[in-house]
Amino acid sequence: MAKIELRDLHHSYASQETDSGFAIRDLNLTWEDGSANALLGPSGCGKTTLLNIISGLLRPSSGQVLFDGVDVSQLSTRDRHIAQVFQFPVVYDTMTVFDNLAFPLRNRRTGEREVRARVAEIAELLDLGGVLTRSAGRLNPAQKQVVSLGRGIVRKDTAAVLLDEPLTVIDPVLKLDLRRKLRSIQQELNMAMIYVTHDQHEALTFADWVTLMDRGKVIQSASPEALFLNPQTPFVGFFIGSPGMNMMRCEVSGQRTRIKGSPLEVPEIIAARVRSVAGAIDLGIRPEFVETSTKPKAEWNVFSLQAVDHAGSYQVLTLKSGQLRIKARVDDQFEATEADRIWVRFPPENVKIYEDGELIP
Ligand SMILES: Nc1ncnc2c1ncn2[C@@H]1O[C@H](COP(=O)(O)OP(=O)(O)OP(=O)(O)O)[C@@H](O)[C@H]1O
Ligand SMILES: [Mg+2]
Repeated sequence: MAKIELRDLHHSYASQETDSGFAIRDLNLTWEDGSANALLGPSGCGKTTLLNIISGLLRPSSGQVLFDGVDVSQLSTRDRHIAQVFQFPVVYDTMTVFDNLAFPLRNRRTGEREVRARVAEIAELLDLGGVLTRSAGRLNPAQKQVVSLGRGIVRKDTAAVLLDEPLTVIDPVLKLDLRRKLRSIQQELNMAMIYVTHDQHEALTFADWVTLMDRGKVIQSASPEALFLNPQTPFVGFFIGSPGMNMMRCEVSGQRTRIKGSPLEVPEIIAARVRSVAGAIDLGIRPEFVETSTKPKAEWNVFSLQAVDHAGSYQVLTLKSGQLRIKARVDDQFEATEADRIWVRFPPENVKIYEDGELIP
């Protein structure tokens, strides 16, 4: 197991390196040993490219990959001791499940006694005990993927396990189960895992540390809690959360600070900070923190209710004031109907201020 560091990585697939040709740009990142990590971001942002650079399948255009402080940039895939689990199962159909699991060990000339002991251990962890003698070709796709996973974690000298959307082929109910299992294996074996997904829910439930990428860059790498409470950019605020963060552009004219397109005045405690910076200012507030009331409240702002969406244990209100539209998340007891008036408050402590797209502390 190893700590993984990426230094000044750039990668372009094109022979001519134009700016738009970069799949990975200016990337610096550290993943601690034994940690559960997720790599999250929209399709095409560079997640698979990054995993392939770590495992050595791909040589970056420039930059370094370090395991435990040692530069492995020039090492082959084999010598990096990385296990990679892909979107679709990679198993030998004609071999038994046992032989599939044993393969990475035998490949490294492990003694048969140890092979048997280790395969038994992994089979136990993954509930594969009952199918060990079956030929892998006869398993269903979910079971095959579990075998792929087993092959990934069977060696004890693995530096890290990289999983690239490993649960895509698994149906939703089993998915939850498997993710939980993966998580408990990660803790039990204390392995560094990097789990790639474009699904925030998957990332936030699996990992202690989540790295959010966009267009080849790391936008924020933090705990799920920090991504929720302190999104570094509006992109993070919007990508994480259901629904994402509300963003409101500020306008200063003379002594007054307003929300663009609405009659809303920004409370003085925030307006004072807004006036102290020069750039374009957006205020962000998560739908969970927007306070709402169906009864008039002094000093709160009146919005009209445009839509109510039920989402199981909570509801999402779409609220409008002038041209401004925001979302508020309320519990399932909240009763209001469309076209009602709703009084709204943005608690200042939950309002994030962005100057030119960057959170200001
Ligand atoms: N072999 C390749 N040749 C040229 N361009 C590529 C190649 N592989 C990926 N790209 C480009 O590099 C960028 C990053 O792709 P990558 O596959 O790493 O994204 P991703 O985050 O894994 O996306 P997804 O969520 O769809 O799997 C994209 O613009 C993609 O089109
Ligand atoms: Mg990918």
